[in-house]
Amino acid sequence: MTYSVAVSGASGYAGGEILRLLASHPDIEIRTVTAHSNAGQPLVQHQPHLRSLAHLTLQDTTPEILSGHDIVFLALPHGQSGQYTDALGDTPLVIDAGADHRLTSQDSWDAFYGGDFHEPWAYGVPELPVGGVKQRETLRGATRIAAPGCNASTVSLSLAPGVAAGVIDASDIVSVLAVGPSGAGKSLKTNLLAGEILGSANPYAVGGTHRHIPEIRQALAAASGTAPDRIRISFTPVLVPMSRGILATSTAPIVGGVSDAEIRAAWEDAYGDETFVQLLPAGQFPRTADVLGANTALIGLAIDRAANRVTVVTAVDNLVKGTAGAAIQSMNLALGLPESRALSVNGVAP
Ligand SMILES: NC(=O)c1ccc[n+]([C@@H]2O[C@H](COP(=O)([O-])OP(=O)(O)OC[C@H]3O[C@@H](n4cnc5c(N)ncnc54)[C@H](OP(=O)(O)O)[C@@H]3O)[C@@H](O)[C@H]2O)c1
Repeated sequence: MTYSVAVSGASGYAGGEILRLLASHPDIEIRTVTAHSNAGQPLVQHQPHLRSLAHLTLQDTTPEILSGHDIVFLALPHGQSGQYTDALGDTPLVIDAGADHRLTSQDSWDAFYGGDFHEPWAYGVPELPVGGVKQRETLRGATRIAAPGCNASTVSLSLAPGVAAGVIDASDIVSVLAVGPSGAGKSLKTNLLAGEILGSANPYAVGGTHRHIPEIRQALAAASGTAPDRIRISFTPVLVPMSRGILATSTAPIVGGVSDAEIRAAWEDAYGDETFVQLLPAGQFPRTADVLGANTALIGLAIDRAANRVTVVTAVDNLVKGTAGAAIQSMNLALGLPESRALSVNGVAP
């Protein structure tokens, strides 16, 4: 069976990466691409790397144009998806790359986003440990999926095994992330101009204000079976001059009486059978260059007994494992297709 697909936000970074991956998916026909200010223009004017889709023109993003497909991807600025999801009731599968359907708590939505709150959908991070199983169990046969925030899934995948196994203390997490500016989207922003970021590392959303914080607390609470308010995280992203990529360094205290072997076993047991989330051998740590273009999260784990903390360093491509790859992996699960179809573990190097 071939599934017809519409991708909204197709002129943007997330929509473009969804299209790049879908273009090599044997079960998918990309029928419709939509945008907003750039509607009416050829797709390749905005995504010149998508040569196999040169025949497509960006249409307006309306419920009428999006409906009538087997699958609709929404890759819109946060707060914009809800108006379409309500009108897509007949669409068999809708996948939202935005934040609108990620949070279970309206209080958290109000505090970090504001505007209308929409119901939470199945969370698109298949490898995440949740209550003794993996998140993929909720994605099999799902009809509505919320793809993750890129920083949020990177930190959640980093720490969930230790939190779930009870070997680290989730009330004192510190995460500092080096992030590329593509994570902030393609629209013009002065702080993202080349003149502002080249040759500089720029912190932003410092001091507990970043919108991905409630998503991380929600995911780690689900992993550990506790309430989100038991998860405390100091979260600091730093923009660095690389177009794609996230390198997240997270630390948390080691629970008393836990051995080094038990700590490492928590991550080995969680990810030993996973294709796209891989724990590196002891003493090795990932680089963002190792995962560019890949649907892979690479994790390095250190046990710092002098500080009594674990240090977890994780590299992902924000546009692949952090968004589009997670969305397509989740789509494969929802449709009952091989989970890794059209996704690669291999990056592009150098
Ligand atoms: N970038 C990432 O690494 C990343 C990672 C995880 C999740 N996400 C999420 O993915 C979503 C899209 O992010 P992005 O980085 O792709 O942003 P982007 O590059 O700025 O693209 C935004 C897209 O949405 C369209 N758009 C803007 N306003 C719209 C409206 N009112 N109605 C319909 N379409 C509208 C734009 O169309 P025009 O160009 O025609 O104006 C463009 O196609 C966001 O919710 C973001 O949080 C992004």
